[in-house]
Amino acid sequence: MEGYDAATYGQRTAEVYDERVKGARPAQVELLEELAGEGPVLELGIGTGRLALPLVARGLEVHGIDSSQAMVAKLRVKPGGDRVTVNMGDFSHFDLAQRFSLVFAAFNTLFALPDQEAQLGCFATVSRHLLPGGRFLVEAFVPDICRFDRGQRVSAMEVGLDRVFLECSRHDPAAQTVTSQHVELGAGGVRLYPVYIRYAWPSELDLMARISGLQPEGRWDGWDRRPFTGTSVSTISVWRAPLP
Ligand SMILES: C[S@@+](CC[C@H](N)C(=O)[O-])C[C@H]1O[C@@H](n2cnc3c(N)ncnc32)[C@H](O)[C@@H]1O
Repeated sequence: MEGYDAATYGQRTAEVYDERVKGARPAQVELLEELAGEGPVLELGIGTGRLALPLVARGLEVHGIDSSQAMVAKLRVKPGGDRVTVNMGDFSHFDLAQRFSLVFAAFNTLFALPDQEAQLGCFATVSRHLLPGGRFLVEAFVPDICRFDRGQRVSAMEVGLDRVFLECSRHDPAAQTVTSQHVELGAGGVRLYPVYIRYAWPSELDLMARISGLQPEGRWDGWDRRPFTGTSVSTISVWRAPLP
C-alpha cells in the first residue's frame, strides 16, 4: 500500500476510533495494574488513551509512545489526558531516559510494525527500558490464514439500513502481512480506513523475546486469564526482564 507509514492508521482513524472500539473492561485494567506494581508504565501505541487513562485514574504514572498526532490529540482532551507523558515517535526504536515496571502493546498494536526486523527491534528496545523484573505484555490475535481464499478476503463486517462496512484484504503468507481497507459505504459517501499489519505466531513472539533477553512468564487466552489452548483466537503474552 504505497504511501502508508507509521502515522497513517491513526491519522485516518482518530475521528471514529472511540466510537468503534469498546472502552476498557475491568479485567484489562486490573491485569495491567497488577502486573505494573508500583509503576511506572509505558504503553506502545497509546492512541486515544483507552487503556492508559483508566490506569492514570488508579494512580499509576503512565507514559506512552505514538506516531499519530491525531490520536494523541483525542487523548489530551479527556480527563487525566494532561497527566500522561506522551513521546511522539516510532515504537520499534526509542530511547527514553526512564525505565518501567511494565511496558505493554494492546489490541494487536505490535503487528502495526511492518516487518520482523521492526518487531524484533521493538522487543530489544523494550528490554532495555525495563526495570529488573519488569514485564512486557503483548495482546495479539493468533493468525488464522484460513480466512483468506487464494490470498484475499472480502467480508461484510457490518450491514445496516443506511450503512455497510466491508473489509477488503490481501494476504502475503511469506511476509506474514495483511493489507486491508475497511470500507464504509453510507449516506455520506465512501470512506476508506487503511490498515497494514505484519502478524507473528505466539512461538515467534517468544523467540523475539528470548533473543532480547526476556523470559516467558505467562500466556493466556484473553484478559480474564483463561488458559491458552490450540483453539484460542487471541493471546495475552507476558515476558519478564531478569532479576539481578
Ligand atoms: C489499534 S490502535 C491502539 C490504541 C490503544 N493502544 C488502544 O488499545 O486503544 C494503534 C495505535 O498505535 C499507533 N501506532 C501504529 N504504528 C506505530 C508506530 N510504528 N509507532 C508508534 N505508534 C504507532 C497508532 O497511531 C495508534 O494510535
